[in-house]
Amino acid sequence: EEAPEPEDEAPEPEVKATAEAPEVVQPEPEEESDVKIYPMYMANKAVTPNTDLDIIDKYTGKVAARCALAGPSDIDAAVAAAEKAVPAMGALASYEKKAVLEKVVTEVKARFEEFAQALCMEAGKPIKDSRGEVQRLIDTFTIAAEESVRLYGEYVPLDISERCKGYQSLVRRFPIGPVSMISPFNFPLNLAAHKIAPALAVGCPFVLKPASRTPIGALMIGEILSRCNLPEGAFSILPCSRNAADLFVTDERFKLVSFTGSPAIGWDMKARSGKKKVVLELGGNAACVVEDIIPNLETIIERIIHGAFYQSGQSCISVQRVYIREEIYEQVRTALVHKAATLQKGDPKDENTFIGPLIAESEAKRIENWVKEAVNCGARVLLGGKRDGAFFDATILENVHPEAEIHKEEAFGPVMELTPYSDFKTAIANVNKSKFGLQAGVFVSELNKAFYAFEQLEVGGVCINDVPSMRVDSQPYGGVKDSGLGREGIRYAMEDMTELRVMILKDVGQL
Ligand code: SIN
Repeated sequence: EEAPEPEDEAPEPEVKATAEAPEVVQPEPEEESDVKIYPMYMANKAVTPNTDLDIIDKYTGKVAARCALAGPSDIDAAVAAAEKAVPAMGALASYEKKAVLEKVVTEVKARFEEFAQALCMEAGKPIKDSRGEVQRLIDTFTIAAEESVRLYGEYVPLDISERCKGYQSLVRRFPIGPVSMISPFNFPLNLAAHKIAPALAVGCPFVLKPASRTPIGALMIGEILSRCNLPEGAFSILPCSRNAADLFVTDERFKLVSFTGSPAIGWDMKARSGKKKVVLELGGNAACVVEDIIPNLETIIERIIHGAFYQSGQSCISVQRVYIREEIYEQVRTALVHKAATLQKGDPKDENTFIGPLIAESEAKRIENWVKEAVNCGARVLLGGKRDGAFFDATILENVHPEAEIHKEEAFGPVMELTPYSDFKTAIANVNKSKFGLQAGVFVSELNKAFYAFEQLEVGGVCINDVPSMRVDSQPYGGVKDSGLGREGIRYAMEDMTELRVMILKDVGQL
């Protein structure tokens, strides 16, 4: 969902130098005794054929953990096991699937802080945001447990003309088959959960590739699933390098690939995915329109600051472009700059930290270059604009040229731009002047204008009186244009992971 998405496009420094990865300078480990080892999950079982993947603490820069790294033959074996598990997974009763999903909820609740601390370390995500993500993981599995017993079908009458007299039908959903899943670094727990939980709810076996920089969250979910008595081969969770991962895209035994990552990688994958269904959750440069001060200035400022800068802007619905009605522009701009200046930067483990490091220094450098380019084209820096290693300051720009990268592309960092407008229709048209279309936010008091925005905005979600960064895990979530294809949100993912089958009945019930 990030452009460029380092997981997909930058070298992966945590992977030890091999024939397929260029040699890179290896980070210093913590004391060897403090380095935790994580297995990968192959056909439901923990296996540790090697410990080749170094997991860096994103704040200290040191190796904090190691985990097993799968190669192409492991992935091949996992897909074969998943294919074999199709009948047994399809035969699970709804209450059995519900029980598995509920067990995950119970265990994550009991180990809440352990999950949050692991996430904080591997992603550099401030501890408050990490706890928020663990809560969302619980919500996502809870929704899936509820939906797992509601996979309803329908009755469709077929006697629509003389030719079909006496016909009627039942329509049911059946699991699609093995699902290939690729999840990103920015929500290592909840975006893996958005793929895993619906697959379990409908009875699809799956093979998941977590992001190489942040695999621990998915592996912790795997550890719980390995104790759930699922049919053999029901799931594999395999950290692997990008080169090894090609089977996730091309293997015809997969019936669906669900990818969250960068637009470039996602659209290329679609082109190479053969006959399988494809769900793509890609990037965005989300916009927010401030037409009215509603419900009050304090709330608007708090929401925009949060939407733009939480987890250092590494969300694909982070606020990037803010359009403000000109009569209130000065007032809103001053308050935004004032509030953003108070955000504390530092160790993500510190309870007061709001801005932690970006996932890698290369990302902070990319953003620095994009800000410099914007400034060279006339942008004014109202706040921030500075980099320190992998940290980038909360940054507010104005007068950004429409051709600047920081405007056109997904920043995926703590940068937003402000632009005044004179009339509401122009603001909505400006939001649509983007190749992306994920979510948009509109602060507006008139019902007519709210509906105008809903009808005109070319996005997958419109947040009225809130920022585009709001996502509830049960809503349909996904984009139009370059932002993707298909929708996540448990019920909608369950639809994607099933095929409709109709039973046509002739003259049934006539004695
Ligand atoms: C994303 O960044 O892709 C998802 C954002 C969210 O789930 O809040």
